[in-house]
Amino acid sequence: MKKISFLNLGKHPITNNFLKTNKPKNEFFYNLKLIYHKETKLVSLDNFVPPKKMFNDKYAHRASASITMQEAYKNLAYKIKKKFKPKSILEIGSNDGVFIKYFSNINNVGVEPCKNLADLTSKMKIETYDKFWTFQLSNKILSKHGKFDIIYSANTISHIHNLNETFKAIENSLNSNGIFILEDPSLLKSLQKLSYDQFYDEHAYVFSITALKNITKQSGLEVFNVEELKTHGGSNRVYFKKVNNKTIKISNTVKKHLLKEKNFGMNKLQTYQIFAKKVLKSRKNLIKIFQKLKKEKKNIIGYGATYKSSTVLNFCKIDKKFIKYFLDTTPTKAGKFTPGTHIPIKKYNGIPSNVDYAFLGAWNFKDEIFKKEKKFINRGGRFITHVPSPKIL
Ligand code: TMP
Repeated sequence: MKKISFLNLGKHPITNNFLKTNKPKNEFFYNLKLIYHKETKLVSLDNFVPPKKMFNDKYAHRASASITMQEAYKNLAYKIKKKFKPKSILEIGSNDGVFIKYFSNINNVGVEPCKNLADLTSKMKIETYDKFWTFQLSNKILSKHGKFDIIYSANTISHIHNLNETFKAIENSLNSNGIFILEDPSLLKSLQKLSYDQFYDEHAYVFSITALKNITKQSGLEVFNVEELKTHGGSNRVYFKKVNNKTIKISNTVKKHLLKEKNFGMNKLQTYQIFAKKVLKSRKNLIKIFQKLKKEKKNIIGYGATYKSSTVLNFCKIDKKFIKYFLDTTPTKAGKFTPGTHIPIKKYNGIPSNVDYAFLGAWNFKDEIFKKEKKFINRGGRFITHVPSPKIL
């Protein structure tokens, strides 16, 4: 399979590795390089980071940390129940139970390799397997719970390196009328918004509908519907059925998305090379903003020590010289330091009155944050973003 590299983002740490000290010994770095697969049109990282380095019992991300996400999962659970009336559901990557908890009245099973998270859902009486999703695990679950009406997975399949095995195991676990629903960041939206920060260690892939269609064929799964979502800066919710299931019609949305991607040039290497040039320019302009504000002796902090922001900070070499500290609502991040750039993270308790600028690490939650930070904005406080181009908001 021909793979072509189109962007080298340099050395990066593990995004989830929030540090206890600002002088860590032996911090792990890898080369973050992006690859275009000519045949399947898949876009991936070149070097995959060993899964156990990223997904372990220290995993910091809590899907419930944002009100936007809590609402999104609640609404989706309601929609699935109404539309598909499932009797069984399996979630791959059940995190802190933000979604699967709404299915306590049916056979609901979670798969979550991060033990600290799996323990949370086990305590909620949801049978949770603290294992990586593999064909072997799918057989183990099958022997106890049978096949499922719905398999749901948000922001997880793009993290799993062996996609062939992943999709085959999903097909293996679905009822003949079963539906698999995948949600992951949209490659089209990342290219359009120039959000190169969708690429980091965990995101081994950023999917297009075109690539998903191409790579699932041999697993016996077929895309039958696509919905666009605003979450995570622009995602796709993709519905799959078994190829042999002729009772479900293929929606026009599939054709529409494939055409949109084709028209944007996503089937051409050149599109990714243009993206790469724009990313280099974006870095230059973001650094300029920080340098200017620093010269003016402005007090700059970071808002939301997200995984995405790790790519931006490390790629642009924005560290303590520019950002004094980050504020973040996740309790396990407070008191630690950002990976690679070693910026202190403080517990969010409102933006202090001496702050002039806040870099929007959590730019994908801009609406929620702007609503919350009216006081800061009204007193002249400003946010800095790099999406879709570096600017002060
Ligand atoms: P992410 O890496 O999944 O995008 O995580 C979002 C991070 O942003 C999470 O640590 C919580 C943080 N955050 C805030 O600190 N304040 C906010 O208002 C929001 C929405 C998120």
